[in-house]
Amino acid sequence: MKHALQIFGFTILVSAFYWYVSLWVPQKRTDPPEDIVISASLTTDEMIPIGEEIVAGKGTCLTCHTMGESGTGLRFPDLGNIGAIASERVAGQSDVDYLAESMYDPNAYVVEGFVAGMPNVSRPPVALTDQEILTVIAYLQSLGGTPTVTMDTPLQWQGQAPAPTAATAPDAPPDGATVFTTYACNTCHSLDGAAGAGPTLQGIGSRQTREEVTASIREPDAILVEGFAPGVMAATLNAFGFYDNVTDAEFEALLDYLMEQ
Ligand code: HEC
Ligand code: HEC
Repeated sequence: MKHALQIFGFTILVSAFYWYVSLWVPQKRTDPPEDIVISASLTTDEMIPIGEEIVAGKGTCLTCHTMGESGTGLRFPDLGNIGAIASERVAGQSDVDYLAESMYDPNAYVVEGFVAGMPNVSRPPVALTDQEILTVIAYLQSLGGTPTVTMDTPLQWQGQAPAPTAATAPDAPPDGATVFTTYACNTCHSLDGAAGAGPTLQGIGSRQTREEVTASIREPDAILVEGFAPGVMAATLNAFGFYDNVTDAEFEALLDYLMEQ
């Protein structure tokens, strides 16, 4: 009986520990992408809730960003007050242009203290349309600022043809480096030892076997690297459709690339 009680107590402790850990993992939404019909006659006010829905769904933004929880947004900028600060980020750039650039060309300006590598969300796998991006801008402006964008606001990046990626160029042999950036591995993992939201993969090929690296990618939470939270990698890769869409050839190319490190 005493033994059973000990086991019971231990179970409670372990559960409490996991509950405690879960408090530190931002709540991730990984809804499957849905097509939202966007009419060109929407008013700015009507654009806001649609933009909000895209941010939480198809845009996959919440797999990385928090909205108004500055305490947990340590690895990625918190966007809770972005409408108020967007016009002050880059001298001479309006809030609309800054927000547009942060989606079409995210690495043009890297927020101080964060790592470059946010994926261009107008390209696959996220592939927001120009109209969807306008509604997201309206929503982001509403977070502490005044929405001014309309469905007719011209943005210099509109109409860019999506570049072929590993996922959309079936003829070309897959390239591991491209797979690495297409699925945003680079937003969390450096290859040069720099800190990030995930452990650096510098020298991974000399530290681990191909089987171990395969397991880390297939089941990110099976073995946790000390000091990192569970759930983050799996949530982002699910949101990016990695597990559904990556082909065997792409996966092998990715492994070749990592084992060369
Ligand atoms: C895979 C992770 C990831 C995803 C997904 C992602 N971002 Fe980001 N985002 C980042 C990182 C990292 C930065 C900081 C580096 C930089 O400035 O490029 C950033 C920066 C930003 C900034 C600038 C914030 C500031 O304080 O100036 C905005 C705005 C932004 N993201 C919006 C979005 C929106 C909207 C989406 C969804 C459509 C999105 N992001 C999806 C990783 C991500
Ligand atoms: C949103 C951030 C994020 C993204 C995106 C991400 N990872 Fe991770 N990754 C992590 C975290 C956090 C860990 C450590 C926790 C764990 O082991 O699950 C990790 C662990 C790993 C490990 C184990 C490293 C070691 O030292 O044992 C490998 C390998 C890895 N990731 C590869 C990848 C690859 C390849 C991709 C893209 C297909 C990817 N990750 C995308 C956050 C991320």
